[in-house]
Amino acid sequence: MKIAVAGGTGVVGRHVVDTLRARGHEPVVLSRGRGVDLLSGSGLDAALTGAEIVVDVSNVTTTSRSVAVGFFDRAGRNLSEAARRAGVRHLVTLSIVGIDRVRLGYYTGKLRQEEIVRAGAVPWTILRATQFHEFAGQFLSGVPGPIALLPSGQGQPVAAREVADHLVGLALGGPGRMAPELAGPQLESLADMARRLMAAGGARKRPVLPVYFPGGMSSGGPLPTGPGPRGTQTFADWLKERHF
Ligand SMILES: NC(=O)c1ccc[n+]([C@@H]2O[C@H](COP(=O)([O-])OP(=O)(O)OC[C@H]3O[C@@H](n4cnc5c(N)ncnc54)[C@H](OP(=O)(O)O)[C@@H]3O)[C@@H](O)[C@H]2O)c1
Repeated sequence: MKIAVAGGTGVVGRHVVDTLRARGHEPVVLSRGRGVDLLSGSGLDAALTGAEIVVDVSNVTTTSRSVAVGFFDRAGRNLSEAARRAGVRHLVTLSIVGIDRVRLGYYTGKLRQEEIVRAGAVPWTILRATQFHEFAGQFLSGVPGPIALLPSGQGQPVAAREVADHLVGLALGGPGRMAPELAGPQLESLADMARRLMAAGGARKRPVLPVYFPGGMSSGGPLPTGPGPRGTQTFADWLKERHF
């Protein structure tokens, strides 16, 4: 089956593509590097021709509310409308646990993306997952300076590969609207993950200073609220597999 993966070259997207291929499907990547721009819409209709399912794991890296809302609004509308024109029967979008509880500019963009999916004509599933194990590195790369200031508090991170497996299962299973939240196997602190990542050679070594972030990030907002599905790979096991 032809399945389009918006953001199929990203941290989770490449696992979605690999998983689809391993299950005998024909993934088509929608990304600027592959000639499809979700913001301008260029290349979108041609890439979606014959696609039955779209998995959206596209992203913009920003902490700016206006940039995040601008991206997820425009990209979300273009993708939703192009999917309808192509006769896609299922749109699956990856979102984040806690976006409705934690006040972050980026999360406002994710809320807009969810609204567009829910209002669109294509039957949909939204999966909210917790931060990936990869998130510590993604976060650190956006923090300049000699000291890394990171939000204090705990999360329940999950391996991006396991998120991808779960998304593919949902995609093939048919539209389910809001899927139960997916989280990792255990609680971790982002500051501790960052220190362990640095010690393993996966990020530039510098002191890590956990700071209280108002708005929920440091006070349990990123944690799942229900007993949904759980990944099995711990951050420690994920780290052992890396060859930095
Ligand atoms: N990171 C986390 O911890 C986490 C946790 C839960 C959920 N999520 C969600 O998972 C999704 C994927 O995150 P990620 O960290 O895997 O993303 P990522 O590594 O930043 O990858 C982003 C992808 O989007 C594509 N892209 C960006 N702008 C585009 C455009 N204008 N047109 C077409 N493609 C575009 C990129 O390809 P090109 O650059 O080639 O265009 C790339 O394939 C996001 O929606 C995020 O909110 C992330």
